[in-house]
Amino acid sequence: MCVESTGPIAMTQNKFQTCLLSLVWLATFVFVTSGGELVARTQAVAEKQAAGEAKQATKESAVQEEVDKKEKSDDSDDILDLIREQSAEKDGEPKIPKGVDVYMGRRVAKTMHYLGAEWLIRNTRERQERCSLMLANLGLKPGMTVCDMGCGNGFYSLPIAKMLGNHGLVVGVDVQPEMLGFLRERAEKEGIDNIVPILGSYHHPRLPPGTIDLVLMVDVYHEFSHPEQMLAAIRKSLKPDGLVVLVEYREEDPKVPIKPLHKMSKAQVNKELAANGFKLAKEFDNLPWQHMMFFGIDGEKDLEEKAMEEKETGSAKESESQPDSNNNK
Ligand SMILES: C[S@@+](CC[C@H](N)C(=O)[O-])C[C@H]1O[C@@H](n2cnc3c(N)ncnc32)[C@H](O)[C@@H]1O
Repeated sequence: MCVESTGPIAMTQNKFQTCLLSLVWLATFVFVTSGGELVARTQAVAEKQAAGEAKQATKESAVQEEVDKKEKSDDSDDILDLIREQSAEKDGEPKIPKGVDVYMGRRVAKTMHYLGAEWLIRNTRERQERCSLMLANLGLKPGMTVCDMGCGNGFYSLPIAKMLGNHGLVVGVDVQPEMLGFLRERAEKEGIDNIVPILGSYHHPRLPPGTIDLVLMVDVYHEFSHPEQMLAAIRKSLKPDGLVVLVEYREEDPKVPIKPLHKMSKAQVNKELAANGFKLAKEFDNLPWQHMMFFGIDGEKDLEEKAMEEKETGSAKESESQPDSNNNK
């Protein structure tokens, strides 16, 4: 309800009301503007602080990255340098010598073509071959250097790289550049950066000597067209206590649904590896389709070879120092 005032008292009352109203407006204005300024200032301070913190966080994560990189490089840079040196194309490198069709009584299988690479990463593989059981029994330890020989598209290289951690290294060797391309793609997609792909040659894996803890060959050895040269190079690449692990489909078992040419018996594997300076260290027999056989370096072979060399040089020296019987007449 509005009551209308009249007369001088009413006039003074009106002035007083106007004055009061103006004062209220002024106070509100001052409060709002200074309050706004306060909010703006607080915001600016908060933003500055946030920016500072972000900068600090970026700095810290950059430092952490550097530390990680450094730790990683301390462990594996030497090996990486050797690998790069070894795998670099060399001028005048001898052409691939002729391979064998049959080795120690076994027919050698042809190399699996890269167009079939999808089969290697099929969904049913784990159920059929118990791949995770195989990996769990490899004896991998963080920080190891492992060669996945005949790595294909990296079905095993990727999980092994994860198992070895930042300080470990997987050297993935294959003779088909397309396979290595698939390996690179798959590793990149999963953000894995401790795999070094190497394009090997059929008779030479281009590995630096004395650097590898474990060479894994899953469904690969039976394809080697140059088994002796490959085994000799692999043997040289191992650290003194290094191991070679062969995983091959069991020839002895007709229920394993793989073509006979792509299977191997234990006896055959043993015969071929022993002839090339390896001795059986242990076996894991619980895979559904495959043998899993671990071989170490057989030092006896080195001793025998050394003795043979010494005998040869000794007899050569002896015949040099023997007076010519004709001159003696
Ligand atoms: C049947 S695939 C197995 C791939 C992989 N190990 C796996 O289990 O998924 C055989 C692979 O061995 C490779 N290979 C054959 N001979 C080789 C050699 N002398 N050196 C390196 N890799 C070879 C082939 O190119 C092919 O990618």
